[in-house]
Amino acid sequence: MSSSDQSGIFKLGNRTVKRLGYGAMQLAGPGVFGPPKDHAAALAVLREAVASGVNHIDTADFYGPHVTNQIIREALHPYRDDLSIVTKISVRRGADGSWIPALSRTELTQAVHDNLRNLGLEVLDVVNLRSMFDVHHPAEGSLEAPLTVLADLQRQGLVRHIGLSNVTAAQIAEGRRICEIVCVQNYYNLAHRADDSLIDDLVRQGIAYVPFFPLGGFTPLQSSTLSVVADKLGATPMQVALAWLLHRSPNILLIPGTSSVAHLRENLAAGQLTLSSQTLAELDGIA
Ligand SMILES: NC(=O)c1ccc[n+]([C@@H]2O[C@H](COP(=O)([O-])OP(=O)(O)OC[C@H]3O[C@@H](n4cnc5c(N)ncnc54)[C@H](OP(=O)(O)O)[C@@H]3O)[C@@H](O)[C@H]2O)c1
Repeated sequence: MSSSDQSGIFKLGNRTVKRLGYGAMQLAGPGVFGPPKDHAAALAVLREAVASGVNHIDTADFYGPHVTNQIIREALHPYRDDLSIVTKISVRRGADGSWIPALSRTELTQAVHDNLRNLGLEVLDVVNLRSMFDVHHPAEGSLEAPLTVLADLQRQGLVRHIGLSNVTAAQIAEGRRICEIVCVQNYYNLAHRADDSLIDDLVRQGIAYVPFFPLGGFTPLQSSTLSVVADKLGATPMQVALAWLLHRSPNILLIPGTSSVAHLRENLAAGQLTLSSQTLAELDGIA
């Protein structure tokens, strides 16, 4: 059994993926801009992930921009049949690395073609439309216009499945009236639990919930409770944070990001951790 296998599986569009996947954002340069400082190490992380059984990789063509997708292609193309590469659109990068909303029909269409070209694919498995009403948090506003464009691109055969990112429950309901939504990717982890009730709704509807920043993102999680629990289990705090997410709900798919093979191995081993109800209760107290 490979190291990602023990995390379980969940349906993502037409594929069944391991619940422990990999997020590729850390493979670009500082500030998710430009090339990585160690190109060979970036290739090694991706190859190790797939060799360890990971079959769900999250990316975006605006990481770099283009850099992360080009590294994925260099490391893994031709892709294994069971590999699901999930991307996201609605942002472009300024010359200074800034993150600029890009939600016009022309920009969204361009973004899908950029992903196809840089990943070396003819069809994208899953494309998340990322809401940009507030860059950092879900904020209300209609996604009808950009989602209609993405649904058109799906009808043209360029995109297999559609997801939403950085969204509210109302936006998901609006989205489901336009097209099938297979996943939601929002900010969520042991310490940031704004989506608790949303996750419970989505699991009832069979929709995958893919937390971004599962380890805290740019400010990795730090908590004395987490460290004490990890010590007791002979695990690391990051492993416990991931194991807690796997226990939280069966529709949660993990895409922890790392630029290091050692951290990747550590994160994938989190699938082997079993947390008792008492430990889960202690960890719940962190939020
Ligand atoms: N939809 C969205 O708006 C959105 C936003 C952000 C991210 N994402 C996606 O979510 C994925 C995950 O997010 P993320 O990478 O930003 O944050 P994350 O997974 O929460 O954390 C990544 C950070 O944790 C460190 N790390 C990873 N494993 C570690 C370990 N075992 N021990 C210690 N430190 C460790 C990484 O540094 P090292 O490189 O040194 O390991 C990096 O600094 C991204 O790759 C991206 O695909 C989506």
